Amino acid sequence: MNDLVIPKPDDWHLHLRDGRAMASVVGYTARSFGRALVMPNLRPPVVSVEMALAYRDRILKALGPAEQGFNPYMALYLTDNTSAQEVRRAAETPEVLAYKLYPAGATTNSDSGVTDLSRCHAALEAMQETGMVLCVHGEVTDHQVDVFDREARFIEDVLIPLRATFPGLRIVFEHVTTKEAADYVRQAEGSIAATITPQHLLFNRNSLFKGGLRPHYYCLPVLKREPHRQALLQVATSGSPRFFLGTDSAPHSKDAKEMDCGCAGCFSAPHAMALYAQVFDGLGCLDRLADFASRFGAQFYGLPVSEQTITLTRGQSTIETSLPYEDGDAQIVPLAAGEPLGWQLSL
Ligand code: NCD
Ligand code: ZN
Repeated sequence: MNDLVIPKPDDWHLHLRDGRAMASVVGYTARSFGRALVMPNLRPPVVSVEMALAYRDRILKALGPAEQGFNPYMALYLTDNTSAQEVRRAAETPEVLAYKLYPAGATTNSDSGVTDLSRCHAALEAMQETGMVLCVHGEVTDHQVDVFDREARFIEDVLIPLRATFPGLRIVFEHVTTKEAADYVRQAEGSIAATITPQHLLFNRNSLFKGGLRPHYYCLPVLKREPHRQALLQVATSGSPRFFLGTDSAPHSKDAKEMDCGCAGCFSAPHAMALYAQVFDGLGCLDRLADFASRFGAQFYGLPVSEQTITLTRGQSTIETSLPYEDGDAQIVPLAAGEPLGWQLSL
């Protein structure tokens, strides 16, 4: 099979930034995906419905003629001060699909994040009551905890207690990276799902150190050991509707990545669908890609599966070493830059 036709996929975890940066990257996503859930970690963070709708308008205005029809959904940033009233407002706003929990200090632009979940009790109760989804960045922030263990610790220390208090809360465990997270989501009771990125399916932590320090493979949660990658491959291709596509494409300029204390985030938007196809093809599971990329996420969020399609075609190319960013005066390095690509999106 050289052509694969699937319903237009959705990206349930996407960073677009704002302004010129956003304008220079949004087209990559809009050409491959019908919808995306846009993350709110701007500066300042997107904390209200009003801010989210204004941000959404800026995204729509930045779309080129070939990208019209792309439908961005918004996630709001949960803070210690999020009110139950704002959650109810969000629940009544069709363009807002979720709140995002960033433990304070866990990742890029998370300093306004939640310092203690007990401060969010009223907001979480309102989410449970209204069916609003809570997307979680699942890592503890205690610097005493080894960075490779922070996701597994989050399950025990935060997620299980949270779900015991709010058993009806609908949760997406974002960008899972470990066997522990995959096992937890696969087996847990109640309404829980997980997104999986292309980098965590394709690479293990050796990629961070291959021949030298590789900042473009650095994201959070950080790449893990090979057995964890194997566990993610297993669940992503298992046919379980709890696992679906979220790229976590997180643009940072080449300069911001290649520096002392470089930013976390892999920019996967340009070739995300081709990379996922490569993963599923490698396992002989191309027939499962449509569920993972186009159906399970929509089902979880209560949205219809797209009636449009995309075509992925087999064919060798090489991923660009960099692409223009912002006004073109800056550069950005895509995920797996310089590596061969066995699939292409036919436009
Ligand atoms: C994301 C970013 O840059 O906004 N970075 C990352 O490494 N994934 C934030 C996030 O999703 O954690
Ligand atoms: Zn993210």
